Amino acid sequence: MGATRIPEDTVEKIRKAVDIVDVINDYVTLKKQGRNYFGLCPFHGENTPSFSVSPDKQIYHCFGCGTGGNAFSFLMEIEGFQFPEAVRHLGEKVGIHLPQLDQSPAHQKSNRDREVMQQAHELLTKLYHHCLLNTDQGQQALAYLKDRGFDEETIKTYNLGYAPDSWEFASAFLAKRGFQLDQVEQAGLIGKREFDGKYFDRFRDRIMFPIFDAKGNAIGFGGRVLGKGEPKYLNSPETKIFNKSKTLYGFHLARPQIRLTQQAVLFEGYVDVTSAWRAGVKNGVATLGTSLTEEQAKILSRNAEGITICYDSDNAGVNAAFRAAEMFAQTDCLVKIAKMPDGLDPDDYIRKYGAEAFLTNVIGTSLTVMSFKMDYFRRGKNLQDEGERMQYIEEVLQEISTLKKAVERDHYLRQLANEFSLSLDALKQQQHQFYKQSQKKQDKPFEKRDNKARKNFYVQRLLPAFHNAERLLLAHMIRNIEIAEKVQEEIGGAFNIEEYSAVAAYLYAYYAEGNQPNISAFLERLHEPQLIKTASELAMLEINEDISDKELDDYMKQILIYPKKMQIEEKEKEKKEAERRQDFLTAAKIAMEIIEIKKTFTNK
Ligand code: CTP
Ligand code: MN
Repeated sequence: MGATRIPEDTVEKIRKAVDIVDVINDYVTLKKQGRNYFGLCPFHGENTPSFSVSPDKQIYHCFGCGTGGNAFSFLMEIEGFQFPEAVRHLGEKVGIHLPQLDQSPAHQKSNRDREVMQQAHELLTKLYHHCLLNTDQGQQALAYLKDRGFDEETIKTYNLGYAPDSWEFASAFLAKRGFQLDQVEQAGLIGKREFDGKYFDRFRDRIMFPIFDAKGNAIGFGGRVLGKGEPKYLNSPETKIFNKSKTLYGFHLARPQIRLTQQAVLFEGYVDVTSAWRAGVKNGVATLGTSLTEEQAKILSRNAEGITICYDSDNAGVNAAFRAAEMFAQTDCLVKIAKMPDGLDPDDYIRKYGAEAFLTNVIGTSLTVMSFKMDYFRRGKNLQDEGERMQYIEEVLQEISTLKKAVERDHYLRQLANEFSLSLDALKQQQHQFYKQSQKKQDKPFEKRDNKARKNFYVQRLLPAFHNAERLLLAHMIRNIEIAEKVQEEIGGAFNIEEYSAVAAYLYAYYAEGNQPNISAFLERLHEPQLIKTASELAMLEINEDISDKELDDYMKQILIYPKKMQIEEKEKEKKEAERRQDFLTAAKIAMEIIEIKKTFTNK
C-alpha cells in the first residue's frame, strides 16, 4: 500500500497554480465589481448576488448564508468531494497529475458496491427492454403501450421494458451472472422472504421505466401495472445509488435540449414526459412520485433560465404546481405554469388533441405564476357581482404584495387597474398596506435590503463592541503577521467568542511555523467547516489596513474588559438583591468588589 495522503508540497503547488475565479466560474456566473467578483450563491437560494470571490485572497464568501473557504473547500462543498478528491480534481485542471489514490478499504468497498448496483440495473434495463420488444411474454405489455400511443422510437429512447410475471426472473438472471443476491437486494431490485430466506423479484408483470442519473447510469425503476391494479406504480426504494430527491426522470435525455434552449418543462408523471417527447417537447423531466424538492429545483435552475410547470389540472395538481413554483422562487429562474383543461393530464391531452395543440395551446400559452394565480382566483367567481369582484381584487393584491420585483408589482397593479377601471394609486396604497401587514408578521428586517447594508448594519449596530473588536482584530491579524504577534503577546487566546479564539490559536500556530499571511493557505489548517467559514468571512471584511497602535490597543482592551463587565453586571444584580433584602452589609461588600474589578481595567 502506498501513501494515502497527498504530500503537503503537492497540495501547495496545486493551490498556487489554481485560480479560484476559474474554478467557481464553472458553477456560478461571476461579474467583476471592484476588486472582487460577485454572483448568486450556489449554496442557498437568493435573487441578489451576495456570493463574493476574491482573486487576491483566493477565497470565496457568501454574505447571505455565511459559507466560505478556498478553492478546495468550494469543490468539497459543491461536489461533495473529500479533500483528496478536490485536490486531485484541481490538479487535473492545472496539469498536475496525481498518482491513483489509495483509498481506504471501506471507501473502496463502497465504490465497488455502487458499481455493482449500477451494473445490475444496467443489465436488467437491457433484459426488460428485450423482453418487451422481442419476446412472447412481452406481447401484452407492448400491445398495452401501443394502445396508449407509444411508438417504438419512444420505447427505445426511454429504454422501456417489461418485467415478466415471475418471482425469480431477475434474481435467477443476476445470480447466473455472478451477482451476490444480498447486494442485489440492497439495490432494491429483489426482496428476501422471511420464512425461508429466499430471494424474490420486486418487479413482476410490470412495464418498466428505468430511471437514470444525470450521467445516464440506470439507478432505479418505476414499474407500472398493465391496465388497472394497485399500486399503479411500484418504484425502487431509495438506495445507495438512488436518491429520489436529487433525481429527475428523463433529465439525462433532456439536458442537451434544456441547455440549448435554457428552458425546461416539468411534469408529474413518467408517461407525461414520454408523451411530450413524442409530441416534440424534448426538454421535459418529471419528479419521481413526490413533490418537487429544493435539490431538484436547483438542478433545473443550474441548467435553465425558464421553467414551465405542466401538472394535472385538478386541485391537487394546481396546488402542487404552486408549491413547485415556490421552490423556484429561491432561484433566478423564470417560472411559468401551463394551463391544462379540467380532468386531463398532459399525456391525456396529447392523445386527445394531438401534439400540435399541446405545443401551441398548452406549453405556448403558459402563464407566469402570478397570472396563473389570478386566473385561479377567478374560478367560480362572478366578477359582475361587486362583493365577489372586491374579494377577487383583494386576493390578487395580497399576491402582488408577495412579489419581490417592483417592476412586476407595477405590471400587475396596472393590469388590475385597467381591467376594473380603478385608480392605480388606490391599488398601490392598498397593496402596500398588505405588504406592511405581512412584514410585521414575518419580522425579517433584511429581506429587502441589499447585502452590504445588511453587513454594515450588523457590524456597526447589532454587534456589541467587544464582538466587533474581535472581528476587526482577527481581520487584521490574518493580513498582518506583526499585528498577530502583538495580539498574541498581549491577549493570547482571550477572545470571548469561542470560534474566534480557535481561529486565533490556529493563526498563531500558522505564523509560528514560519508561514506568511495567506488566507487560502491558512484555511487548509482549519479542518472544521464552521471555522473555515468564519475565517473566510473575517478575511473578506473590508478594513482599513493602516491601523494605529492606539486603535489596536483599544480593540484589545475591549476584548479584555468584556468578561469583567459581565462580572460587574452580575455583581450589580447581587447587590440590588441584597439591598432588597435590606442586607446592607453584603451590599457594601459587593460594592467594594465591584470597585476592585473596575480598578483592574481603568488603571491600564
Ligand atoms: N406515482 C407513483 N406511485 C403511484 C402512483 C403514481 O410513484 N402509486 C408517481 C409516478 O411517478 C407517476 C406520477 O406519480 O408517473 C403521476 O401519477 P399519476 O398521475 O397517477 O400517473 P400518470 O403519470 O398519469 O400515469 P398513467 O398515465 O400511466 O396513468
Ligand atoms: Mn396519465
